[in-house]
Amino acid sequence: MAAGIDDIAIYVPELYVDTNDFAKARDVDIDKLQKGLGIYQMAMVDNNQDPACLAANAALKIMKRNDISPGDVGRLYISTESSFDESKAMNAYIIGMLEQIYGDGTFAHCGGVETKFACVSGSYALYDNVNWIRAGEADGSYALVVVSDIAKYELGSSGEMTQGAGAVAMLLNDTPRLLSFDPRVTATSIRDEYDFYRPFGKDTPIVHGQYSNILYLIQVRKALELYKEKVLSTGLIKLRSDETILDHIDYLNMHLPYSAMGRKALAYLVRHEWRQLPRWRGIVERMGMEEPLPDDAPGTIEAMLKDPDFIKKDGAFNHRLMETPEFVDIYEKKLASSLVASRMIGNLYTASLYLGFRSSLEYEHRKGIDLAGKRVGFGSYGSGSSAMVFSGVILDRYKEVLKNMHFQSDIEKRRKLTLEEYEMLHRGQMPVSEAILPGAEGFVLSDVDKTNGERSYVYNP
Ligand code: CAA
Repeated sequence: MAAGIDDIAIYVPELYVDTNDFAKARDVDIDKLQKGLGIYQMAMVDNNQDPACLAANAALKIMKRNDISPGDVGRLYISTESSFDESKAMNAYIIGMLEQIYGDGTFAHCGGVETKFACVSGSYALYDNVNWIRAGEADGSYALVVVSDIAKYELGSSGEMTQGAGAVAMLLNDTPRLLSFDPRVTATSIRDEYDFYRPFGKDTPIVHGQYSNILYLIQVRKALELYKEKVLSTGLIKLRSDETILDHIDYLNMHLPYSAMGRKALAYLVRHEWRQLPRWRGIVERMGMEEPLPDDAPGTIEAMLKDPDFIKKDGAFNHRLMETPEFVDIYEKKLASSLVASRMIGNLYTASLYLGFRSSLEYEHRKGIDLAGKRVGFGSYGSGSSAMVFSGVILDRYKEVLKNMHFQSDIEKRRKLTLEEYEMLHRGQMPVSEAILPGAEGFVLSDVDKTNGERSYVYNP
């Protein structure tokens, strides 16, 4: 049975920080932010917003747009790593908000959970729900998977420049208009790691930034290796001796903690895929630098981390590779459009990969390319750490969905924060009644009870 994404909707908060202001305030070179990391603006939440109301806004948008009633939705899953409750699942909060619109008890049948595995948990939620549909359990109903996060790092930390906030809602069914997932090829890699984690009671994570970058690359590559084995053994893709798996993936979407990470990851995967091809020797010769390869166990984290000089040389090689015409070609054709939205919104943790997918669809469509039949690959990474690689094919009816995508108008009403306002919001000491935009459209918090932590939400039409 086919299963996939019928529609996808984003919710972006109405406040942002401009990296020009941020760079001045933190005395960071603006080129590091814009050219090095690919960040121009970071979306911020107001005093009266939390990840649950971002998620409810995205869910309501997709339901209204498709004229769906609660009875049509069989499951509602939420994935987040900015959860505010250790027990009550965030999907219950979302249902509470949606029932303010659709009526008390209208979602009573709609099961689901909140999933957690840093930024990769949305991909696990998607996979489980796709399999629920494939198993015939959905009985014609939709699964609604929402990924929502507030990426918040400590003031003054190196992660502070990679913040952002927002939610993506995805409607899944057995007759999707947008994308059908390839069956039996989803691949995962997992290992107990401490690259990025948030112990109980902390509202910002503990981060080993460079280590997390390297782990991301290695875990995604390992998952890609397994994906490759699966697509070959299932016969989904057949490879000639001068081809790699990347030749059969038309578009690649990567987890984007910052937009430049997508390009860096593509370069890393390209190296590992192209190394065995006849074309590689010529590319390396033209680059004028031999590829640094650790003697033992190439590509393992142990081999890389034991030698800081190796990491430096490896980075220099990657930078040269990114300038070759061969890399520029694959980057422009397969990845560049997925990075557009991330530059203006920043990190959305669980939602970053899917914001990238949404961005790729809109900006590739604008080029006038016929997207029907194109294979889309997804490289998902979550710290702690796990990666998931999977793929799908864009369907003939995709234009019916794409006509609703207008990223520029989604973000043009936003208001720029001053650095003082941003820091005040970041410290989170203001009551929800003192929002910067109290009348902002959609669900917002109206109260957080000081004694028992209960949250109340209202809907601003
Ligand atoms: N002009 C142009 N480029 C410049 C520059 C300048 N003046 N100065 C620096 N750069 C470049 C650097 O060369 C570097 O690019 P490469 O990686 O391609 O070499 C880039 O800008 C960043 O510079 P640094 O590596 O020196 O930056 P940093 O160490 O201060 O911080 C960071 C970068 C580690 C990503 C940090 O922001 C951080 O800790 N972020 C949070 C963790 C994170 O995002 N990890 C990503 C992987 S884990 C994950 O993906 C899960 C998740 O969502 C968190």
